[in-house]
Amino acid sequence: VHEGNGVKGLAEMNIKTVPDQYIQPLQERTVSMKTNSVVADEDESIPVIDMADWDRNPKVAESICDAAEKWGFFQIVNHSVPVQVLEDVKGATHRFFTLEAKEKRQYSKEVSPTNNVWYGTSFNPQAEKVLEWKDYLSLFYVSDDEATAYWPSVCKDQALEFMKKSEFVVKRLLEALMKRLNVKNMDETKELLLMGSKRINLNYYPICPNPELAVGVGRHSDISTLTVLLQDDTGGLYVRKMADDSWIHVPSVAGSLVINIGDALQIMSNGRYKSIEHRVTANGSKNRVSIPIFVNPRPSEVIGPFPEVIERGEKPAYRQVLYSDYVKHFFKKAHDGKDTLEFAK
Ligand code: SIN
Ligand code: FE2
Repeated sequence: VHEGNGVKGLAEMNIKTVPDQYIQPLQERTVSMKTNSVVADEDESIPVIDMADWDRNPKVAESICDAAEKWGFFQIVNHSVPVQVLEDVKGATHRFFTLEAKEKRQYSKEVSPTNNVWYGTSFNPQAEKVLEWKDYLSLFYVSDDEATAYWPSVCKDQALEFMKKSEFVVKRLLEALMKRLNVKNMDETKELLLMGSKRINLNYYPICPNPELAVGVGRHSDISTLTVLLQDDTGGLYVRKMADDSWIHVPSVAGSLVINIGDALQIMSNGRYKSIEHRVTANGSKNRVSIPIFVNPRPSEVIGPFPEVIERGEKPAYRQVLYSDYVKHFFKKAHDGKDTLEFAK
């Protein structure tokens, strides 16, 4: 398909209309339908939290926990990841996707020298009725040595650096989120449970001839503990607003990182923190890149509601699940809103 150059290859053939496989059913299209409309109110968005005063002002941590409960999504600025690191990884993403098809194809699932690196298109073409207008490179972090040996040389340093430099803020966020749940000591055991594995994706959304018919990414929630997302200034990410189910846009804020709670933390917090449905529109005039870091439990961890949460008289809303089973379940299906969570019920 597409000369093995993904959706980017297709977009560059100057086609006037998207192939049928990319035409979404009406209810999944991201414009024009009322209950499915992209925007309830253009001015409304998720909180943007300035972390500069973290050490002096406990309100900063409070507002992070509030946002995790109310929105499941927020943006942070002054997060301590240098702007240059963010610029560099966006640049590296463009570089990777500009490589010739045959160079990128070396990383396709069938031939990649490791299961931890793969270049793909859409999300799960085998399982999808309709494809997503997106190509990506997925890098599962095992060790620096492994990354150095196998990650594509045009992007490995920049991707690794983004991952490393974001670790500090990830720990801060998780410590604050745990404290509100009365889950205290962030010791090594807790770290493995909450952030024992990481995946970084380099996403590329080519210009789409019919953005109204296709989607960049269909509705889903992340399966992570939390996700750190860097987006460029194109826009197109929409999140479900809990209060009324409308979709609201996540505008690009210079230097910011978007943080969202994933299913694993929704499960562990027994639903207190929300893993929110989101999706990405296709764009008719601009190529877009985004780079999420999925901060996940170690695959061998068993996740379930924290005893500290249950002790307060709550009923467990989820069962205990081996995290690798949860991951497997997610990757077996097409994107389907929040349905993965049913697996943990
Ligand atoms: C995703 O949630 O899968 C991608 C988010 C984005 O590209 O903004
Ligand atoms: Fe996502």
